[in-house]
Amino acid sequence: MNTPAPSSRPHTFQRIYVWELPVRFYHWLNALCILVLTVTGFLIANPPAINTAGEASFSYWFGWTRFIHFATAYVFVFNFAFRIYWGFVGNQYADWKNFLPLRLAQFREVRSVLRVDILQSLNRPLAAVGHNALAYLTYFVMFLVFLFQVASGFAMYANMSDAWFPHLFTWMLPLFGGDAGLRHWHHLATWFFVIFTVIHVYLVFYHDYVEGHGVLSSMAGGWKFLPKDGPGKGDGRSWFSGKPGPKA
Ligand code: HEM
Ligand code: HEM
Repeated sequence: MNTPAPSSRPHTFQRIYVWELPVRFYHWLNALCILVLTVTGFLIANPPAINTAGEASFSYWFGWTRFIHFATAYVFVFNFAFRIYWGFVGNQYADWKNFLPLRLAQFREVRSVLRVDILQSLNRPLAAVGHNALAYLTYFVMFLVFLFQVASGFAMYANMSDAWFPHLFTWMLPLFGGDAGLRHWHHLATWFFVIFTVIHVYLVFYHDYVEGHGVLSSMAGGWKFLPKDGPGKGDGRSWFSGKPGPKA
């Protein structure tokens, strides 16, 4: 006999347009840049000895690796600048003010998210339509690391370029003990993105599963699906069994 597929209690959902096209475009271009910068960056850090018997000018792979790193760096910077601009002109969920932890309510929500995601002492979907407060805060910290990575990268790049833009950041060099010192910090910051990405991807899948608000597909299509009786207001039932869950 076939086992019936698990289903949740019937809900009426409303479809809310949360992530506008520019935010989605920024997100995926940013993710692609991070991937390319991380791979080429680790190759620059630890170049494999690729020897061929061919003509030297045809085996310029390390030059290409560095070129791809620098060219992608420019795409990354302009994409990032565009997202900051969108924080001023975009919808309420993209607003830059959400990213700064300035209100007490945001700290309260951070605590609730920690209880749901980490401590698992709260068994309720969160009432967040955009990102939750902890996610906004994490992205804010990530934006600061973006700024560091851009400033340190262009500071190192300045002595290979006549363009004016990289020279805006040369003040970083003496602060971090010159090229070699700054390269170490640039390398270390890369690990922040690697660890962030692993946790980030895990959490969007986790929230998609337990909340059923379509968070994962929201970065593709822009829409989230929230119960009509209020965004994310839980019914006190366990997400996993459908039985009443422990009280908060
Ligand atoms: C978020 C993005 C970035 C990541 C993940 C990243 C990663 C890395 C890594 C791992 C290295 C090797 C460091 C080492 O030798 O140990 C590196 C080198 C370097 N990166 Fe980046 N980077 C990023 C953004 C940038 C930007 C925006 C620039 C600006 C031009 C830049 C310029 C450089 C330069 C100049 C080097 C040294 C290259 C050399 O000496 O051959 N990077 N990067
Ligand atoms: C396959 C990989 C990825 C998936 C499936 C994914 C998915 C998502 C989703 C669904 C959201 C929206 C979450 C919400 O509504 O609260 C989001 C937001 C975000 N993700 Fe990713 N992501 C991926 C890779 C990355 C990478 C590599 C980075 C950068 C290191 C990144 C940075 C961000 C940022 C900054 C936001 C906030 C967007 C904004 O408000 O501007 N993501 N991601």
